[in-house]
Amino acid sequence: MTRTRTATRIEVYPVREDSRLLARFARPRPGQRVLEIGCGRGLAALTAARARARQVVATDLNPAALSALRHRALSDGLSVAPVRTDLARGLRRFDLVLSNPPYLPTGRNARDPDRWENLALDGGPDGCAVTARILRALPSHLRPDGVAYLLVSSEQSASHLARLRSGWRRRGGVVRTVARERWGEEVLSVWQLSRASRRTRRATPGTGGRPPAPRPTRFGSSRGAGSGRRNAPGVA
Ligand SMILES: C[S@@+](CC[C@H](N)C(=O)[O-])C[C@H]1O[C@@H](n2cnc3c(N)ncnc32)[C@H](O)[C@@H]1O
Repeated sequence: MTRTRTATRIEVYPVREDSRLLARFARPRPGQRVLEIGCGRGLAALTAARARARQVVATDLNPAALSALRHRALSDGLSVAPVRTDLARGLRRFDLVLSNPPYLPTGRNARDPDRWENLALDGGPDGCAVTARILRALPSHLRPDGVAYLLVSSEQSASHLARLRSGWRRRGGVVRTVARERWGEEVLSVWQLSRASRRTRRATPGTGGRPPAPRPTRFGSSRGAGSGRRNAPGVA
């Protein structure tokens, strides 16, 4: 991810190396529900739709991004539901969640005057502001067996990223790095996140092989997922 240094503004974040790296993980099993948070041109969402996901929802705050994605999906004969919302606000739970959030460290005075360019790049003072918000919201949008892939960068504060990883683990989640690529000075990585280790979800003897009833954790119980939440078009 780099800042535009010419007078040409990006109305919608173009497909770049970070977009392509994340899209490699847009491989739902047939019938799964997929969410891309902060979709831009929606490469990951379109890739998931091609893989016959049951449903693909893609969010952004930039209306031009959603409109570009809608047109692309229509022209490719793919089913993607673009939703204008802040991250995943109002949406239910998904099997696969993907996000390449804005992550460039950006002080107050360094913000791009173009609102949409800034929205695509500005990760707050240490680059981790949006990543941290996504991690806070993620438990409400992941199904119990769901998996999320999140793009992170060496441009972000390493110590804050380490705190975010350990915070996820402290709440019972699992996180591992599943891809790492160098682009010039920058190293891009993809984190794979899930809500609980297989060990915690292992069937308890005497329950006929059924997994134990969900215990309330700081992620909340898996029961009643999404109740009272606004539904995206066609989101169950
Ligand atoms: C770095 S771009 C990535 C775009 C696309 N996912 C890709 O990989 O090419 C980040 C995207 O997140 C969107 N975004 C930033 N903050 C957001 C928010 N609070 N809610 C929804 N979308 C947001 C931006 O408009 C932008 O399209």
